[in-house]
Amino acid sequence: MIADLIIKNIKTIYTPNHKAPVKGYDMRDIKTVHNGYIAIKDGLILNLGSESHDVFIGDKTIIIDAQQKIMCPAFIDSHTHLVHGGSREDEYGKLLQGIPYLDILKAGGGIHNTVNHTKNASFDELYEKAYRSLDLMLKLGVHVVEAKSGYGLDLETEIKQLNVAKKLNANHPIDIHSTYMGAHAIPKRYALNKDLYVDEVIKDLHVIKHQHLATAVDIFCEDHVFTVSDSEKILTAANALGFKIKMHADEIKSLGGTSLAIDLGCSSVDHLMVITDDDIKKLASSHTIANLLPGTSFYLNKAFAPGRKMIDQGVAVSISTDYNPGSCPTENLLLVMQIAANKMKLLPEEILTAVTLNAAYHLGISERSGSLEVGKEASFILLDAPNLNYVFYHYGINHVSDMFIKGKQVLRNQEIVGDKR
Ligand code: NIG
Ligand code: FE
Repeated sequence: MIADLIIKNIKTIYTPNHKAPVKGYDMRDIKTVHNGYIAIKDGLILNLGSESHDVFIGDKTIIIDAQQKIMCPAFIDSHTHLVHGGSREDEYGKLLQGIPYLDILKAGGGIHNTVNHTKNASFDELYEKAYRSLDLMLKLGVHVVEAKSGYGLDLETEIKQLNVAKKLNANHPIDIHSTYMGAHAIPKRYALNKDLYVDEVIKDLHVIKHQHLATAVDIFCEDHVFTVSDSEKILTAANALGFKIKMHADEIKSLGGTSLAIDLGCSSVDHLMVITDDDIKKLASSHTIANLLPGTSFYLNKAFAPGRKMIDQGVAVSISTDYNPGSCPTENLLLVMQIAANKMKLLPEEILTAVTLNAAYHLGISERSGSLEVGKEASFILLDAPNLNYVFYHYGINHVSDMFIKGKQVLRNQEIVGDKR
């Protein structure tokens, strides 16, 4: 078969090589192809390898010389709070003086601060701000982003956030997977009666479903926020409506959220900075992905999730930014990957699997995305680095030069191709 596009002269292609979810040491067992090429037809991978690619060349085939750059699947940021109003640099000083994140929240700041900004922002303001964030992510090699609501805490504003994400998905080259997170904090109007808010969120799930605004539901299970029993109620209702379910658990205080997430069949359980040893074992024998967010530990100056121990014990791990204005104000997944290497002692190969195939798995797209295999979508990046280790070693630097999404070039030498805005 004749290819539409061939990228040749690739120094090394790196890709996960196991079936998802990739657990434990399989995460580091990736495939490498030296002096390789990749052939693409109709947005899918027709072939890749190191032998001659002449049989795929026809009159109309476009051939691009990678000039000895390295290639891997494009990255997936599977946990972000992308759409929100304003910023919280005023709270950074408080954090640096040692005032805990949850105390800032309890005093009416934190998430509530961003809720006010998000309520007051127009649709277009939210759209423009998030579009700029997506451009930053694109330049860092990200082609799929999960985006949570949760800065409305009332149906109208939650819907506004989710509609912004829907329009971004239509107009920006990055694919967006929306998650409804009405249970992100207890709105001030329900401060004295949280149970009524839990009921309201369960009622609103039907509206979100009916309007096709999200495919997943998330909840912040934390001390003074939502309990394990609140989480069970909301996620069980969401599950029954056909949503994927996931949970922010074991971020600051260990309440038992991880165990519940596994029992309910959550696709991912996220944060896990204070996970117990028993729950690590339970995760290892489940299909729930441990979605680790080391950028948040870094910014809040907290312990890192025991990612090394998890992989050593056979857990399937993914890694994301958690991009949000309060606990991880950065869109930079590559920096977060570099932090994961240094602080969690994860190997570059493990981290590559974490931000590609395992992230694709819990978003439900691993059959078509997340690794470079014949028949899968041709979504990959070229990096200006001699090898994979170098990408982590030379940290704080963006090594990504080019990105293709489903066979279409969206980034060329760090320039975004065909900006449609
Ligand atoms: O994942 N933990 C709860 N939610 C976010 C932070 C949101 C915020 O502070 O605005 C998180 O860390
Ligand atoms: Fe989060």
